[in-house]
Amino acid sequence: MSAPYLQAEGVEVSFGGLRALQDCSFTIDPKRITCLVGPNGAGKTTIFNVITGFLKPNAGTVHFKGQSLDGWSPQQVVAAGIARTFQNLRLFVELPAIDNVMTSLPQQSGEEPLAAIFRPLHVARAGRRRRDEAMAILQEVGLADRADEMVRNLSYGEQKLLIIARVLATGAELLLLDEPASGLSAGALDKVMTLLRRLQSEGKTLLVVEHNTRVVQQIADDVLFLHQGHLMARGTPQQIISDPALAEIYFGGAL
Ligand SMILES: Nc1ncnc2c1ncn2[C@@H]1O[C@H](COP(=O)(O)OP(=O)(O)OP(=O)(O)O)[C@@H](O)[C@H]1O
Ligand SMILES: [Mg+2]
Repeated sequence: MSAPYLQAEGVEVSFGGLRALQDCSFTIDPKRITCLVGPNGAGKTTIFNVITGFLKPNAGTVHFKGQSLDGWSPQQVVAAGIARTFQNLRLFVELPAIDNVMTSLPQQSGEEPLAAIFRPLHVARAGRRRRDEAMAILQEVGLADRADEMVRNLSYGEQKLLIIARVLATGAELLLLDEPASGLSAGALDKVMTLLRRLQSEGKTLLVVEHNTRVVQQIADDVLFLHQGHLMARGTPQQIISDPALAEIYFGGAL
């Protein structure tokens, strides 16, 4: 049998006395949309940090296509084909939208990995080909007509699309999206959901942290339910959403 596409096994992360992840184990399948759900503080962002090399776990391993990511830097993880967004948007608000995408394109030879992210103006000058590539990505997320707009002038919904454009620019095949739909109006929400589905149909694999059950129902093939740093349940959206014990944990009986 071939190795799982992505596999977390026994991952543990402690912050002082607080166990953010404990014996956290799951797999995700390729070319599917897996939603990662669970109450605030369940450890969703923390497992993203572990997978993407931003945080070294106290124990446990993550394998991507059979290869251990143990000790890999964030740059190495991106180069291997895994890119993520952050819960706070981390855009360059004083730069045009297209420059924000260009800074995420793979590096030219001879450049330090990630140097571009810290030298965005330098990269903005790096030539027409990169600009065309970035433009094609903006087109894909529906922002082509906003390419030259300063990010601070974009609507919140447009900024959320732009962060997806930035992960696409890395060329990664596995996209980890931390609450890509949070705070969006209904119209903007539909645009993001349509985009995520399209990316999946184009062959991307998505792991998406999401709180909105309507979004989960509409986009998820598989749902992972994290609670207190541990995988508590896995199932279809319907199985997870209709489980009264999980609803109690999620909403604390508030419903
Ligand atoms: N750098 C850190 N230092 C200390 N504690 C942290 C740190 N990062 C996360 N935590 C704690 O670890 C636990 C898990 O946090 P995490 O951000 O992974 O939760 P989450 O599931 O993403 O929650 P939310 O839905 O609110 O985004 C929380 O109790 C959080 O306060
Ligand atoms: Mg989080």
